[in-house]
Amino acid sequence: MIVVKTVKEMQQLSKKFKSSDNSIGYVATMGFLHEGHLSLVNEARKRDDIVIMSIFVNPTQFGPNEDFETYPRDFERDCQLAEANGVDVLFYPSVTEMYPSELTSEIHVVKRTNVLCGKSRPGHFDGVATVLFKFFHIISPDRVYFGMKDAQQVAVIEGFLTDYFFPISLVTCPTVREHDGLAKSSRNVNLTTKERKEAPIIYEKLQQVKMLVENGVRDCEQLKKTIVNKLSSAITGKIDYVELLTYPDLTKTNTIKGKMILAVAVQYSKVRLIDNIILTIKEDNECIEQ
Ligand code: PAJ
Repeated sequence: MIVVKTVKEMQQLSKKFKSSDNSIGYVATMGFLHEGHLSLVNEARKRDDIVIMSIFVNPTQFGPNEDFETYPRDFERDCQLAEANGVDVLFYPSVTEMYPSELTSEIHVVKRTNVLCGKSRPGHFDGVATVLFKFFHIISPDRVYFGMKDAQQVAVIEGFLTDYFFPISLVTCPTVREHDGLAKSSRNVNLTTKERKEAPIIYEKLQQVKMLVENGVRDCEQLKKTIVNKLSSAITGKIDYVELLTYPDLTKTNTIKGKMILAVAVQYSKVRLIDNIILTIKEDNECIEQ
């Protein structure tokens, strides 16, 4: 595995791979790797000749009171995991390498961000889109791999790839979970023991609401109320949002039909956890989880 730290070297390497007709699969991460990240690498390995991963804790997507400083980091461990899982090039730039001077233009995402994490974290998706614009231009991947754990991020990326005619295919991968159902996340290490114990309840409640949909309940408000009641009586974390929206447009609707996202965010003492399920309600009323 090659470790690359400069933009220039990364551009040259990508150009070389492309000129020898290799397809490039790209996995963007902020490091502190876990099986969720590695499932994206695994998927990329199946389809692409060269797998490039970036590790970069992107300051522009964190708000002033968010966890940029305490975001977990362990480059040595990440390096070993990336290599053992078949990453060919690990791109690990510094903040000054990625943002050498003040930006003269910025990506401002205008749709799919006035709800969920976009609403709770103003500017977050502008930061995500801005850094991904940079990475996509530096690496020129054929395919990019993103996890449905961050379903709103996927909706935003899908939008800008289409808007700006990037010749890149977006591959989405399912959420990888701990044995007790908690979605794997680098931030889980910042949960207290007590919080870690109760956190699986979030997914449990998402599943219970899915069962209600399977049993024919279609009223969005009723379904949202049910999950808020079930969650607030079962956890000590503070509910940030519970939403049931169309997917990927992320708009409100009274009755659920077609592809929908049921998404939850819970604020714990040091960590904010997010989780979601995507449900497709078919014409014959059958309900399928993606
Ligand atoms: P990060 O949180 O490190 O996640 C990197 C990628 O791993 C994202 O596509 C995310 O959806 C995926 N991922 C995280 N947990 C997962 C899980 N449990 N199952 C499956 N996939 C999972 O998302 C970011 O970084 C940043 O916003 C980034 C895109 C790198 C831009 O800075």
